[in-house]
Amino acid sequence: MNPTDPGVPAEAGATPAHGADGGLEADPESLIPGQAVRVAELDDMGEIALPPERAVSAPTLSLLYRRRARQIAGASDLAALQALHVAVLGRERGEITRLLSMLPELPLEERKRLGRAFNLAKRWLGELHDVRRARLESEGETRHMLDVTLPGRRPWTGHAHVLTQVRDELLDLFHGLGFSVYESPEVEWEAYNFGRLNFAPDHPARDAHDTYFIAPEVVLRTHTSPGWVRAMEERQPPLRLVFPGRVFRAEQVDASHMDQFHQMDGLFVARDVSMADLKSTLNTFARSIVGRDVRTRLIPIYFPFVEPGCQLDVACPRCDGQGTLAGGARCPVCKGSGWSELLGAGMVHPNVFRAVGYDPEEVTGFAFGIGLERTAMARFRIPEVRLFLENDVRFLHQF
Ligand code: PHE
Repeated sequence: MNPTDPGVPAEAGATPAHGADGGLEADPESLIPGQAVRVAELDDMGEIALPPERAVSAPTLSLLYRRRARQIAGASDLAALQALHVAVLGRERGEITRLLSMLPELPLEERKRLGRAFNLAKRWLGELHDVRRARLESEGETRHMLDVTLPGRRPWTGHAHVLTQVRDELLDLFHGLGFSVYESPEVEWEAYNFGRLNFAPDHPARDAHDTYFIAPEVVLRTHTSPGWVRAMEERQPPLRLVFPGRVFRAEQVDASHMDQFHQMDGLFVARDVSMADLKSTLNTFARSIVGRDVRTRLIPIYFPFVEPGCQLDVACPRCDGQGTLAGGARCPVCKGSGWSELLGAGMVHPNVFRAVGYDPEEVTGFAFGIGLERTAMARFRIPEVRLFLENDVRFLHQF
């Protein structure tokens, strides 16, 4: 061996390291044990200098063998190993092939000695290559092996938004009580949203400050009640309808107010419909949606389109009716009252019947307007109305 050989480090472990020419190298002993014996056998045949004009990778056969053996052992993947195989053992232009092709020009004795040495080097490098390839292949298989004991990956499935669920549940409930669905537009005549519902011309809700105007006399509906007017103009009593949909108000957004939200109005018009019918319907609604033992109250309140008018409240879902939070702070959802408004209701005002051509001496009716967000908040104890529109899956997937 040449002790001053610069190209081959004397010692190297089995872990690949970068060799002199930048490729990865490793100790071929890890592929086929007994490399030192093989190198010694080559060396015993005397130094075999390799002519530079053959463009080989080392000045002697012993050095060439050791360098190529380390490179084969360090080949990091099958493509790198294949490239090495072409360069060293390739039938056409591999360097060993080129060396063998020089034999016929040599004297007989030299031809025998070199022929044996070249063929030994060729065979041993071929063996190293085969072992390395088998290892790389089985590593690849292990990498891509299917571990059937791993837990499966559940495909991600979506589901209906919590407001859609609440709406569908309400539709189901009211369907059971004999109501059908009537849909009316989000962009609405100011006259249907306000005037024909008996709002006075100077009612503050008609102000552009509270209502989004699209054009003069055209608004984004502020409630689903204009649907009553459309339905009653179109049809004759008796009517039993619900009006689900999105509504818009120019609100300052906070924990309990959004500038768009959802309602479902209900309207029952026939002969002799009474406040008792309304009350039993509202009780059925509250028990079914919030729970059998929900605490509710019905208080009188003014709406232009009903007389008398009332409001159904449930105990505030945030503070549980206390008005204050655990630390003593005022509850931001009910503003300290302990109650949360679920809906407005009442007996349809005679002026609304007159506006659609019904005779208030002939028919009576009740109506209610349910806030879907408020209903979902009471039902699931959701503390914040803004959560419904934020599209945060961590929130949505809980319902
Ligand atoms: N339309 C009213 C609102 O948006 C709710 C309501 C409906 C009140 C029906 C009474 C009767 O506030």
